[in-house]
Amino acid sequence: MNKHRFDVIVVGAGGAGLMAALYASRNADTAVLSKLYPTRSHTGAAQGGVGAALGNIEEDHPEWHTYDTVKGSDYLGDQEEIEFMCSEAVSTVYELEHMGLPFSRTPEGRIAQRPFGGHTNNNTGLPVSRACYAADRTGHMILQTLYQQCIKNNVNFFDEYQVLDLIIVDGSAAGVVALELLTGELHVFHAKSVIFATGGHGRIWEITSNAYAYSGDGVAITLRRGIPAEDMEFFQFHPTGIYKLGILITEGVRGEGGVLINGEGDRFMEEYAPTVKDLASRDVISRAMFLEMQAGKGINGDRYMYLDVRPETVNKFAASDGRKRPDGSPYVVTGEEILSKLPDIVDFCRTYLGVDPVTQPMPVQPTAHYAMGGIPTNKYGEVLIDEKNTIMPGFYAAGEVACVSVHGANRLGTNSLLDILVFGKYSGLKAAEYANSADFLPLQEDPTDFTQAQIDDLLSSSGDERPETIGLEMKKVMNDLVGVFRTEEGMAHALETVRELQERFKKVKVDDKGKIFNTDLLATWELGNLLDLAEITAATALARKESRGAHAREDYPKRDDENWMKHSLAWKRDGELELRYKPVVITKFEPKERVY
Ligand code: FUM
Repeated sequence: MNKHRFDVIVVGAGGAGLMAALYASRNADTAVLSKLYPTRSHTGAAQGGVGAALGNIEEDHPEWHTYDTVKGSDYLGDQEEIEFMCSEAVSTVYELEHMGLPFSRTPEGRIAQRPFGGHTNNNTGLPVSRACYAADRTGHMILQTLYQQCIKNNVNFFDEYQVLDLIIVDGSAAGVVALELLTGELHVFHAKSVIFATGGHGRIWEITSNAYAYSGDGVAITLRRGIPAEDMEFFQFHPTGIYKLGILITEGVRGEGGVLINGEGDRFMEEYAPTVKDLASRDVISRAMFLEMQAGKGINGDRYMYLDVRPETVNKFAASDGRKRPDGSPYVVTGEEILSKLPDIVDFCRTYLGVDPVTQPMPVQPTAHYAMGGIPTNKYGEVLIDEKNTIMPGFYAAGEVACVSVHGANRLGTNSLLDILVFGKYSGLKAAEYANSADFLPLQEDPTDFTQAQIDDLLSSSGDERPETIGLEMKKVMNDLVGVFRTEEGMAHALETVRELQERFKKVKVDDKGKIFNTDLLATWELGNLLDLAEITAATALARKESRGAHAREDYPKRDDENWMKHSLAWKRDGELELRYKPVVITKFEPKERVY
């Protein structure tokens, strides 16, 4: 058997995994396992900025950031954790700057900041410039910067090693089992601490901004090992994905003055959110787009809208909004400025659509973007295994795979990059601290048994079900019935369909029986993960009889704090789902009605 030993194992090499590895490696022997080459991780797709109240453009405060995040979460976020994240934000961004991250700059040379949805001046209620950005490549730059730092710090990398199981000994994490893509061999990584930073699961839906790699591996593995998943009913639809493709068009476009336009040529967000307009929270805008499209006001009556960042449009609406530059002059942009601040989205639209955003509006539709739910953790990344918040020794999670919960029912843009940095750092610190006080736990004779059985089942199946067909059916039903708007009937139907697909999955056929780079096998295993998470998403959504944040029910259109101000926890035991709940942590901000 292939065996390795490290104090700390980090699974996933996106921003959370690399930040965790960097911090862990300062005090402990650390290895990162990633199914991708690290700089191909999905953090690279994050565009518009990382949230921190630096106040470089205008007055801002971490307290305002905290309040906006609580409100944006529709009061489901845990307030102690949110306050922690927002107050760590400022020093974290400067730390990345000092590591060499090439942020865009103000004329005076400070880190540039732009407005983003839901981030406001708490006195006026108007948008505030809080997103610190590197053009529209902020995630990409974070990834490159952290990878360089990890290399410099002698972190051990196992690239193209896909983790398939978590090893637990007497209730503590003790390592992982991984498949080496090149050889198809299983490897056991024995560790004192394990950090999961495996990202999200947006590939459940048909239209998504998420990479193919976002197949929910971390949550699916931990569910199989008896750890619950928290708040899985909350999944964010970003308002501006490229029509039919789902590829993200950053909210930074609207931060730079871009507006959403319906088929009648109206800037419809003026009606839905009169103060912040196109910079309302994502859940609010995605719903508004759906309502407009339902009313036949999509472009050409179709199911998309225009996102317009042409200088003439930006300048017209900036003038009517009274938007000014920091020096008090009118906000006026040129085509060159759009190009220099949003080079990637200009490139994407030219490449994939043949549309030039400097001279033409972009066709967009809401796209499945971000999992608010995941593996329950506290603010130090320690994994919590029940409604009493019992900590599982030696096990940590950070980034999109985790539910701290700082995003509650709806995440604000820029808070995902902040989340990966802050909670990546603390999980790394804590994992190393734990490793330095713990011994390696003795492993069972062959820890690969459970994984090998899953692989054997897939390879020996005599059925003829195609994984692609099952996947497409899952994505369609989830998009149609567990998307932006939901109903009892629709979700029940989706749940039933997903369960039928899970049955059909037992007869799935893997064509490639070989060992070397068997992506057919791994994509099929990932489909099993997506089906498990689709089932939990539909079941927890069906159970929550209210509307809150990204969970909008037509049959229960109001938020119901009396009955539903609580986090859901879902277990899967012997094939059956079990749901329980735990309270939300409220410190400073009593829940109020949230308009947008
Ligand atoms: O719109 C964006 O640039 C996405 C950022 C985010 O999800 O935080």
